[in-house]
Amino acid sequence: MKAGIFYGSSTGTTREIAEMIASRLGISADDVHDVAKTNPSAVEPYDLLICGTSTWGDGEIQTDWLDFLDGLDMVDLHGRKIALFGSGDETMADTFCSGVGELYKRLRRTGAEFIGSYPANVYKFNHSAAIVNGEPVGLLLDQVNLPDLTPGRIDGWLISMQN
Ligand SMILES: Cc1cc2nc3c(=O)[nH]c(=O)nc-3n(C[C@H](O)[C@H](O)[C@H](O)COP(=O)(O)O)c2cc1C
Repeated sequence: MKAGIFYGSSTGTTREIAEMIASRLGISADDVHDVAKTNPSAVEPYDLLICGTSTWGDGEIQTDWLDFLDGLDMVDLHGRKIALFGSGDETMADTFCSGVGELYKRLRRTGAEFIGSYPANVYKFNHSAAIVNGEPVGLLLDQVNLPDLTPGRIDGWLISMQN
């Protein structure tokens, strides 16, 4: 299964997480794409799209995703898989990683199958648009307050996807 990583990142945090995931999965740098600099047609070669966003404003998706998602509305991804991850700040307790929920909502239109719902422990937030039917739709990370938990959460997420 060929995997590609697509991320939107304003200050580099989600990019660093994308690189951590790539290194654990042995994904080459050529298959790690900043959506700010990538045409949506770049998704074509991949069976698995690992997509990450940070959250800005009051629970909004990272801005570079907006044009990329508009382009993806034209692409049929039936038969492909998507796994989501995000970076946020738990002290924004009512919108923690809500951008991941927006990413999920938009990417559902492509017909791809979602994998990688991951209820990492010790979350303290109240609300997030990334919680759908009581479960996180992907891996939600806090590099601002809880960076030490990130490597273990990534490992647990990747293991859960292989089972
Ligand atoms: C002005 C501002 C608004 C933010 N809003 C949210 C938010 O609503 N929810 C959240 O979880 N994190 C929020 N964050 C935290 C960022 O998502 C976090 O710093 C993230 O790691 C940035 O990643 P990036 O550098 O990849 O864009 C906000 C940060 C700033 C500075």
